[in-house]
Amino acid sequence: MGKNNSTGEEVQNKQVILKDYVTGSPKESDMYIKISTLKFQVPQGSNAILVKNIYLSCDPTMQFQIRKAHKHHSDYYTPGSPIDGFGVAKVLDSGNPNFSASMLGITAYAAIYEIGSLKKGECVFISAATGAVGQLVGQFAKLIGCYVVGSAGSKEKVDLLKNKLGFDDAFNYKEEPDLDAALKRCFPDGIDLYFEQVGGKILDAVLLNMKFHGRIVVCGMISQYNLSEPEPLKNIMQIAFKRLSIKGFTHRDYHHLYPKLLDTVLPYIREKKIVYVEDIVEGLENGPAALVGLFSGRNFGKQIVKLLHQ
Ligand SMILES: NC(=O)c1ccc[n+]([C@@H]2O[C@H](COP(=O)([O-])OP(=O)(O)OC[C@H]3O[C@@H](n4cnc5c(N)ncnc54)[C@H](OP(=O)(O)O)[C@@H]3O)[C@@H](O)[C@H]2O)c1
Repeated sequence: MGKNNSTGEEVQNKQVILKDYVTGSPKESDMYIKISTLKFQVPQGSNAILVKNIYLSCDPTMQFQIRKAHKHHSDYYTPGSPIDGFGVAKVLDSGNPNFSASMLGITAYAAIYEIGSLKKGECVFISAATGAVGQLVGQFAKLIGCYVVGSAGSKEKVDLLKNKLGFDDAFNYKEEPDLDAALKRCFPDGIDLYFEQVGGKILDAVLLNMKFHGRIVVCGMISQYNLSEPEPLKNIMQIAFKRLSIKGFTHRDYHHLYPKLLDTVLPYIREKKIVYVEDIVEGLENGPAALVGLFSGRNFGKQIVKLLHQ
């Protein structure tokens, strides 16, 4: 917004608009910045909330909104309207006394503490491990006392996992000629729990390296999102041979756990037992590039857009 007042005057509002449904990988040119005006005050009697965004979150799942094929998705997108997502905002005016804000982190918390049922000493593998969700999942698993290995797409990300986030081991999946061999090197006795975020070739290799009765928690499959046809899996029969359990989930089903998340995580943050790596770009104009960059691994940690206000 372009002006700081509270008198109901008109102010500038910037939005990232998608031109049309996207097929294949999203590109910066699929989006444009629209500047419009809005009233700085909620109309009398309305239960609307007027917020000033401070930070916006860039999430891979935002791409589900923008594909025609995903009509089942509750956030089904209409071309020409703004892309929505999570963020941190200041409430400027509200006609709704019951409104309360939420925060990120629930995905990792639900995965480890509710779905994964992790036990001390178990062997855990995490793909896309330096990302927004992966870095927290890994640190939660370490705090429980597990052996934790992550994969990521660059040497710098592997160094981050081993030297800052406390993972026991890590590898760059882009430089491993044989993913099966890489997993056997890190898990000679197999994997108890795989936290799945990537799909495709990594999942296929993981299936060969799961322990009997191992669990796979499916958070996402980012390598498949922009393909016109999903990659086939060769090792799918391992699910039966090894009596594997596979559980998919969405954070939307676990928002009631926010109080538990805060009880668990805030002491860890205060005691500096958890760190969080963020990649902050400045200005809404850089939002489209930040969103597109998630699909090539350009982001180093949680991707955030910091909005600049005049
Ligand atoms: N179930 C839920 O409720 C829920 C909630 C949030 C997120 N998710 C899912 O969780 C996953 C991670 O999300 P996030 O927000 O934490 O994003 P993120 O990990 O911060 O960013 C995405 C990362 O994915 C990796 N990547 C991108 N394309 C890839 C490919 N083709 N093959 C392998 N890795 C690739 C890149 O890391 P590298 O450089 O390491 O390749 C990139 O940095 C996504 O699948 C997302 O859809 C699910």
